[in-house]
Amino acid sequence: MNYSKEVLKHFSKPHNYGKIDNYDGLGRVGNMACGDEMFVYIKVKDNIIKDIKFETFGCVAAIATSSVLTDLAKKKTIEDALKITKQDVVDALGALPPIKIHCSVLAIDALNEAVYDYYIKNKLPISKELEEKHNQIIKRESCHSWR
Ligand code: FES
Repeated sequence: MNYSKEVLKHFSKPHNYGKIDNYDGLGRVGNMACGDEMFVYIKVKDNIIKDIKFETFGCVAAIATSSVLTDLAKKKTIEDALKITKQDVVDALGALPPIKIHCSVLAIDALNEAVYDYYIKNKLPISKELEEKHNQIIKRESCHSWR
């Protein structure tokens, strides 16, 4: 696989890797086709993502995209973090082989789910867009054991 220097950098020394024990939101997603799984933990204060960490059980690109996503989302408002696209992730990594683009989608889904979890736990209003995205993710993963 022909990975960019940035992908290999994030893979060999991932940023924000690990768990936040007292997290405010947790996103857990997986891709049934490749078997990769991601966990994104967020700590929120005053609507800002103060801290974000991830655990990824998967391929080189899954680890690199999770790492770069946490860099992009950290210190952003929740609304701005939710605007991060797969193209933003790919651009931050220089490039991704086309067959690995779905790894960046998985990272974004994990962040989406962490925010959704935070909103539910805090009984905050959920936008129609976030609800729809959550439902799409649930539908895609409906046979996963954690659902
Ligand atoms: Fe599926 Fe990377 S190969 S997330």
